[in-house]
This record gives sequence, C-alpha cells and structure tokens, in this order.
Amino acid sequence: MITAALAKGRLADQTIEILEACGVDCAVLTEKTRKLVLTEPSGALRFIFVKPADVPVYVENGIADVGVCGSDTILEEDRKIYELLDLGLGKCRLCIAGYPDSEKKRGGAALRVATKYENITREYYHNKGENVEIIKLNGSVELGPVMGLSDVILDIVESGGTLRENGLTVLHEICPVSARLVVNKVSLKTKSDEIKPLAEKIKRVIENTK
Ligand code: PRP
Repeated sequence: MITAALAKGRLADQTIEILEACGVDCAVLTEKTRKLVLTEPSGALRFIFVKPADVPVYVENGIADVGVCGSDTILEEDRKIYELLDLGLGKCRLCIAGYPDSEKKRGGAALRVATKYENITREYYHNKGENVEIIKLNGSVELGPVMGLSDVILDIVESGGTLRENGLTVLHEICPVSARLVVNKVSLKTKSDEIKPLAEKIKRVIENTK
C-alpha cells in the first residue's frame, strides 16, 4: 500500500482527476466527509488530507510515501524529499509586488516585506544583499501594502486578479511555480514497484492532456 498526502483544496481536486484518468477508483475521495484518512477500494492507495505546507513534512518523515504540493511549498519547507514529477498543475509565479514606488528609499529604513514565505523571502533578499524586515502573514497578504503594514509582499500570483483589484502590481518575478509529485527517499527504494508504475501512469496522463 502507498500512502499519499494531498493538500486540501483545488490542488487535491485536480490531482484526483489525474488519478481517475490513471484508473484509480477515487469515488471514496469525492464523497462529502470529514474523514482525513481514506483508502481506495483495491487497498493499494491510502490518502491523507493535510494543509499544503504539511505535505513535505509527512513525506520527509515517511508517514506518507508520496505527496502532491506546489514547488513554492517545497522551496519554503526545504525538506529532504525527492521530486519525481512536475504535474503542471497549479501554475503561478512567486513575485514581489506592491505599488510602483513601494521600493523607493524611505530614509534608510529596511524594506518591510509581508509574506507567507519567510524562508524564501530571507533567501531572496540575502542574495540581493538587502536588509529587510519580514512580516509573517497567513493569508490575504495583499493587505500588507494596502493597509500600510508592509511596503511590498512576496507571494504567489496566479491570474493577477487579487493584485489588480487592490491596486498593486508585480515589481519582480522570482520563479515559476507548479505542483510536484514528491516522494519519500526510503519509500522510493522499498516501494519502487508500487510507486514507479503509478508515477509512469501519471506522467502519461499529463502528457496526453497537454
Ligand atoms: C493566493 C495568493 C494570492 C492569490 C493570487 O491566495 O496568496 O492572494 O491567491 O491569486 P490571483 O493572482 O489569481 O489573484 P489564496 O487564494 O490561496 O488565499 P489566502 O490569501 O488566504 O492565502
């Protein structure tokens, strides 16, 4: 049996569609339930539903053999896990955003950056040699500059709608983001005869839907 960690929400729904196309019976996953552990009828796959940022945690610790999460989460969490496939889902960009003049010098004070991604932000500005104040938020990050909590934000931009509707704009693009199939390093060896055929099927489905 393979245990798979899925991030609750849209990404899980898209992953379930891919699995169905692979021939996995996902009926149990689409039922309305508050259960967090669900097993498909053949017993070959068990699913756990976790917060997106926790997918790499479960996979690194071997509680889940595989998982699906965004490359933004993988970068931020920096866990010892193996990236097996780019699923091409959940495509967006990690960006610095704010008002067009948000980065102008403010009397030598450090730039204030609101973000859910503290580690990526620290690394990004460290590499630029800039001293910044990082303000950790858990959502609605765009409110930072709008309400004056921060000068800029580091966040994902998908359609750009949230920025636009709040009068903000992309100032710098950091990297593209997409969902990845990640694997526990030990499971990849001990369960390779279960994981590899499933990964192959997923790869074929993705290629056929391109
Ligand atoms: C994400 C992200 C942006 C928004 C970007 O937030 O943090 O706020 O989506 O998408 P867009 O470019 O298509 O507008 P999410 O919807 O996950 O909610 P959150 O603010 O609660 O994290």
